[in-house]
Amino acid sequence: MAEHDKILLREVYKEFGSTKVLQGLNLAIRAGETLVVMGRSGCGKSVMLKILLGLILPDSGEIVIDDQEITQLSEKDLVPIRQKIGMLFQGSALFDSLTVGENVGYALKEHFKMPTEEIQQVVKKNLSFVDLAGAEDLMPAALSGGMKKRVALARAMAYQPEILLYDEPTTGLDPITATTINALIRKTQQELGVTSIVVTHELDSGFSVADRIAVINDGVIIEIGSLHEVQKSKNNFVKLFLAGPK
Ligand SMILES: Nc1ncnc2c1ncn2[C@@H]1O[C@H](COP(=O)(O)OP(=O)(O)OP(=O)(O)O)[C@@H](O)[C@H]1O
Ligand SMILES: [Mg+2]
Repeated sequence: MAEHDKILLREVYKEFGSTKVLQGLNLAIRAGETLVVMGRSGCGKSVMLKILLGLILPDSGEIVIDDQEITQLSEKDLVPIRQKIGMLFQGSALFDSLTVGENVGYALKEHFKMPTEEIQQVVKKNLSFVDLAGAEDLMPAALSGGMKKRVALARAMAYQPEILLYDEPTTGLDPITATTINALIRKTQQELGVTSIVVTHELDSGFSVADRIAVINDGVIIEIGSLHEVQKSKNNFVKLFLAGPK
């Protein structure tokens, strides 16, 4: 692990029955960077993020976060690792029966046992960060897709994680709302200094937030580098992918 690496995936394999998903994936994420991971639908992007959270165990390989290998950890020992990580799930995954405020404050109450008044302060601050000041009492059903993503971001960053994982943060949004989310991802990086992985197959969104871009195909990283470097790739899949839909 290089000194500036925050997260390392080493020779990670994962299959579900006869579906081979990750096939010896190697990836290093540097502290403070935003790494965008792109690849076709079903190539294993969400699985990779869930492996980093310890929600899915790889068949083999190592996951190192801050110099600690996590695949061998018990549920109890995973708790402090998970507390370093905020995740914006694909589809936002808000709790429908809880208000926006309760969603954002959920982990602070359940996992960090923070006093109610402090939680309210954090919720207020984070909702304002995502430009949803005063939305505490709304129910998720009353929110648009873009608002849900912003609430999900406010929730993911509630406990000031060092790492943020974004699963398709702009998919399904109109271009203007997507631009707002991209700006929030950059603002989160700049103001909180987080290390982020953004999984997306939206080219514009990926290009706009990335310090580096990694492309997955057939279960491995086939290209990684700056936007400029990746755009010069000789790999046919990368060229086809980056050319976008025709
Ligand atoms: N819990 C699971 N049980 C069985 N198969 C799974 C499970 N989770 C994922 N898979 C399979 O693993 C493959 C990769 O899924 P994954 O959700 O990671 O794709 P993805 O790259 O995130 O795709 P998308 O861009 O559509 O979100 C798919 O074939 C999927 O059906
Ligand atoms: Mg996915």
